[in-house]
Amino acid sequence: KQPFSQKHLLTLADYSQDEILQILSLSLDLKEKTKKGIPHPLLAGQTLAMIFAKSSTRTRVSFEVGMFQLGGHALNLSTHDIQLGRGETVADTARTISRMVDGIMIRTFDQKDLEILAECGSVPVINGLTDTYHPVQALADVQTIYEHKGTLEHQKLAFVGDGNNVAHSLMLICTKLGMDFSIACPVGFEPDPAITKVAMGFAEESGAHILVTHDPREAAKGADAMYTDVWASMGQESQFEEKSKHFIPYQVNDALLECAKDDVIFMHCLPAHRGEEVTASVIDGPHSVVFDEAENRLHAQKAVMVKLMGKAEQ
Ligand code: CP
Ligand code: NVA
Repeated sequence: KQPFSQKHLLTLADYSQDEILQILSLSLDLKEKTKKGIPHPLLAGQTLAMIFAKSSTRTRVSFEVGMFQLGGHALNLSTHDIQLGRGETVADTARTISRMVDGIMIRTFDQKDLEILAECGSVPVINGLTDTYHPVQALADVQTIYEHKGTLEHQKLAFVGDGNNVAHSLMLICTKLGMDFSIACPVGFEPDPAITKVAMGFAEESGAHILVTHDPREAAKGADAMYTDVWASMGQESQFEEKSKHFIPYQVNDALLECAKDDVIFMHCLPAHRGEEVTASVIDGPHSVVFDEAENRLHAQKAVMVKLMGKAEQ
């Protein structure tokens, strides 16, 4: 096994294919232990600080429960409550907190703040979502595809919607792992061209195909997994009306699902808005695996924490 050399999880772009697979394999192992009730206190006595500048259900619950199951403890620090929200710098927050805790998970707006936390603090920093990336979501999603399809090889994930944080992380992880990735977005809502370029480089290396299009049917063609996310992400609430106009043809409905393979799985990071990016018939229908994805957040993040914070080699 190759060494796992990462100190933080900021984007996933700097992780090797082998490091991602090590996390997935540990996640599957921890999931089995959790289901069977086998104790696995791999982070006994350790503490994770969870900083939230945005709302959360899944990330909040899965990191806190995950730390508890690993024998550690998690602190929920909303930026409404800590001094960061009153202007204390990210750098000083990092210097202070990392004297007391063993790891920091942060959900915030600017990716730059994660880099500062990682630079100025002395403990692992985990990205719990920024405006640019959502890497822990992508890890849980790939695990979900693996569990439903039995393999990741030659699997095609089609993302239809906004070229946002979730789309960026899925694009990076799929192309790293050699999975085909297509994305259909309205004009002006494509993924960040710099991130697309990086993903194209990964695709070349892994043999993955990548497609960026404005045609949802073209993206969905032959997909093993169809994915969508909200039209207006957190922080973009005021743009919702304007954005929605562009996204109506990008709704994942029964007709669009027909373009994918017969055994396609439907995925969504949640929270979802029925009647907007997805119809109730799809998200509540037989192809949907959205709550498996949500559950896998717990297992995948436990694996990430053990890899980054664990003292013994896992
Ligand atoms: N998918 C996701 O990250 O959910 P929360 O916003 O509820 O954490
Ligand atoms: N793109 C969404 C994901 C929520 C989990 C957002 O950033 O709000």
